[in-house]
Amino acid sequence: ETVYAYGMHLLPGVIDAHVHMRDPGGTDKEDLRTGSMAAAKGGVTTILDMPNTSPATVSQKLLEEKLTLASVKSIVNYGFFMGATIDNIGELKKAKRTPGIKIYMGSTTGDLFLKDPAMLEAIFAETKLPIAVHAEDENIITKNFEEFGLTRNVVDHSRIRTPEAEASAVRKAVALAKEYKHRLHLCHMSSALALAEFEDHADLITAEVTPHHLLLNESDYMNLGTLAQMNPALKSAADNAALLQALLDDQIQIVATDHAPHRYEDKCQRYPDSPSGVPGVETSLPLMLDLVAKEKCTLEDVVHWMCEGPALVWDIMEKGRIEVGYDADLVLVDMNKTMAIRGPHMQTKCRWTPFEGREVTGWPVRTWVCGKEVYREGEFDVSRPGIEVMFEHSRGGYWAGIDG
Ligand code: NCD
Ligand code: ZN
Ligand code: ZN
Repeated sequence: ETVYAYGMHLLPGVIDAHVHMRDPGGTDKEDLRTGSMAAAKGGVTTILDMPNTSPATVSQKLLEEKLTLASVKSIVNYGFFMGATIDNIGELKKAKRTPGIKIYMGSTTGDLFLKDPAMLEAIFAETKLPIAVHAEDENIITKNFEEFGLTRNVVDHSRIRTPEAEASAVRKAVALAKEYKHRLHLCHMSSALALAEFEDHADLITAEVTPHHLLLNESDYMNLGTLAQMNPALKSAADNAALLQALLDDQIQIVATDHAPHRYEDKCQRYPDSPSGVPGVETSLPLMLDLVAKEKCTLEDVVHWMCEGPALVWDIMEKGRIEVGYDADLVLVDMNKTMAIRGPHMQTKCRWTPFEGREVTGWPVRTWVCGKEVYREGEFDVSRPGIEVMFEHSRGGYWAGIDG
């Protein structure tokens, strides 16, 4: 088939290395079919999904059950993290078919918060797979934002974790990574204070940032209320700028969404009944392309942060069932298309977005997974499942990937 693409750009498919597709156990919010369709629409051809599902992904058996679910439901390629608990280190040691181990250093959606510092250290000491952390210190949670004068859907800001909480957990994780020479990935960095806790040496420590931590800040609480409740919490405009600079400086290697769909009704409850997290898999590429349109970064930067970076950070190699040739995960984007982001137009089951009404320039229009077109201008082909991603951890991380 000839593809006419005058005036458009063909990019590698986006790898979203941090999503929560809620499958199994939370499929009223999202599932691997609706979430992967949202991904395809957003130009995302590979998703790495987090373990805080019900049941949580904490054993090889449960991980392989998720892989089986995805093999029939996901229209994009997929991989699944294994969650750490107080008593599953045996499973973590022998885990396979996974990008790595996810540790929650503070509480968030689900019940995977690893409270015990001795177990945290044991996992760094005794396991081999890369470790991804949600770095927020449970004990440092106080900040008073009452000066924002919130009235509607008030987030109880006295309970919001501060930059200090993030910096403290990052400091602990970084110390353990250095002591045990263990590959560490810092999920969803949100503050300049946390960035000051680690240097740029990506062979050991890598980091990610979400579009919402780059583009939203505390001033958005006024409009969004609990819709903007998330972990880590939004910080200041100065933090937004520091995070973009960290990407440009390669201290942060990847943009991932932390796609955390919650039902709109649930998000509109009063804190603390309102859950934390925002959807994002469908809007990340347009939001980042809009930064290109605004000349804050280049199209090459976006490809580095959303395609190449995640492949290198997670040692993603050629895919499973491809027998001959190289797989083509591609997205065609129209840099001349300007359109407002609208929740009701979205594919994700939750159909709301913290970016409601934002006009952005640069939109994905067609997406191919393994050479097969799965999305074209509003139409999906769901007859072609994505495939399991393979991870080559033996090569030893980010720079090994570049050299090799
Ligand atoms: C995430 C979720 O809802 O699964 N929530 C969030 O606020 N980010 C979990 C997480 O990544 O911490
Ligand atoms: Zn998290
Ligand atoms: Zn997350």
